[in-house]
Amino acid sequence: MTPLDTTIHLLYLGTAICFVLGLHLMNSPATARRGNQLSALGMAVAIGLTVVVLVHGGTITTTASVVLAAGVAVGAGAGLVAARRVKMTAMPQLVSLFNAVGGGAAALIAFAGALPGSAGQPISTTLTTFLDVLIGGVTFSGSLIAAGKLAGVVPGRPLTFRGGRVINLLLGLIAITAGCLYAAGLGGAGTLGTLTVAALSLGVLMTLPIGGADMPVVISLLNACTGTAVAMAGFVIGSTPLIIAGALVGAAGGILTKLMAVAMNRSLLSIVAGGFGTGDEQSRPAVTATGTVRTVTADDAALQLAYAGKVVIVPGYGLAAAQAQHEVVELAQALTEHGVDVSYGIHPVAGRMPGHMNVLLAEANAPYPELKDLEEINPQFPATDVVLVVGANDVTNPAARRPGNAVSGMPILDVDKARSVIVVKRSLGHGYAGIDNELYTNPRTALLFGDAKVVLTALINEIQAYVH
Ligand code: TAP
Repeated sequence: MTPLDTTIHLLYLGTAICFVLGLHLMNSPATARRGNQLSALGMAVAIGLTVVVLVHGGTITTTASVVLAAGVAVGAGAGLVAARRVKMTAMPQLVSLFNAVGGGAAALIAFAGALPGSAGQPISTTLTTFLDVLIGGVTFSGSLIAAGKLAGVVPGRPLTFRGGRVINLLLGLIAITAGCLYAAGLGGAGTLGTLTVAALSLGVLMTLPIGGADMPVVISLLNACTGTAVAMAGFVIGSTPLIIAGALVGAAGGILTKLMAVAMNRSLLSIVAGGFGTGDEQSRPAVTATGTVRTVTADDAALQLAYAGKVVIVPGYGLAAAQAQHEVVELAQALTEHGVDVSYGIHPVAGRMPGHMNVLLAEANAPYPELKDLEEINPQFPATDVVLVVGANDVTNPAARRPGNAVSGMPILDVDKARSVIVVKRSLGHGYAGIDNELYTNPRTALLFGDAKVVLTALINEIQAYVH
């Protein structure tokens, strides 16, 4: 090994250390930004180094290296603009699109090298090519559908049709047969094409039936698949940083999928088998809340909050939509100054992406110890005077405790066990799962209608009047 080779390997090792440390720093909101920057630095070095190695080793021509550099510039520019311009509420669909791009790029790497056919290739290459095209293809089309569902371009409800599962099974069999033929050195462009079409169709048909409250699990799963496809692409072209980066994303995504599945009370096996959710989606009866809805004015709500001993704030997607994270933290501070014990109840799937509420509240500098997860906050609700639900709906719906509806089995925040509940939202409109919320007709609940930002500002003004 020449000194240059040693330097290159040491630099690659350095990029791997950046990825691992970066991931570790993302464990806490306080250090997550630095973790992201460190990982991005590692990735930039890895890409630059790979181009240098390719040019220096004569693997690619100077013209090809210019094309490569132009591709990197266009891709990085598009990523930068998208990440800078995206609204916080559109972040989940952007993450899904990035998943699609990652999975698609990984599949293309294997596809390009594999077109001449697999005869004479070592099994280590043909097998990883098969897995890369399969996983990358499923991830690409599945993530596009998921992004469409999150953006409202594709209907969010489960889209099923008769015989859908049989077709999925057939597509899976076709993909595996074509892939095995290819891996055994018996496949040409036709076999590869069949595998690709089957994988792309499978991604679409497996994601369309998922909806209601089950999307968090599929988004995490597709994220894990992106990482796995990238690691496979690393094996195909013998790139160590690609293998390490892909394996880290795959492992982290796998853990997240498990956490999301537990949060939704869905079994991982049913997810892998494509049987998402509980019960038959089509035969689920609509949940209809009966009873009258009580409303409250901002004045009365402020009075109730200011004279409570213990208040729990439950944020949800509506807080992100209203961009009211700063107002909610300001309200909590005003209450704390008034002697009220305030904490936040965070549901693992509140919002539209894993950790959505933690990210929002960290941005507004909410004291981290006040953020309580589901297991910690649920036992505290019976001793809570007022729960202030801000733009959360499905994660508080008591219908989840009964079978036969779109949120059945999902652990919820037991806000209905508190002494009183004030719900801030604009109307009696549904949440993501599309069903009525029985909490709103509970006699202990009062609705405070309005945009979260406007309502919270009114509450802050009222409460500050009590303090001064
Ligand atoms: P949702 O159930 O989606 O309810 C959000 C509520 O916010 C709506 O009912 C809406 O009612 C209200 N709202 C919207 N804009 C508002 C505004 N400007 N001001 C005040 N309120 C506003 O939210 P959730 O309780 O956070 O539950 C999350 C749901 O999304 C779950 O079903 C979950 O499975 C699903 N999901 C989660 C993820 C992840 S990973 N977190 C990913 C995909 C899907 P109005 O229209 O009446 O105001």
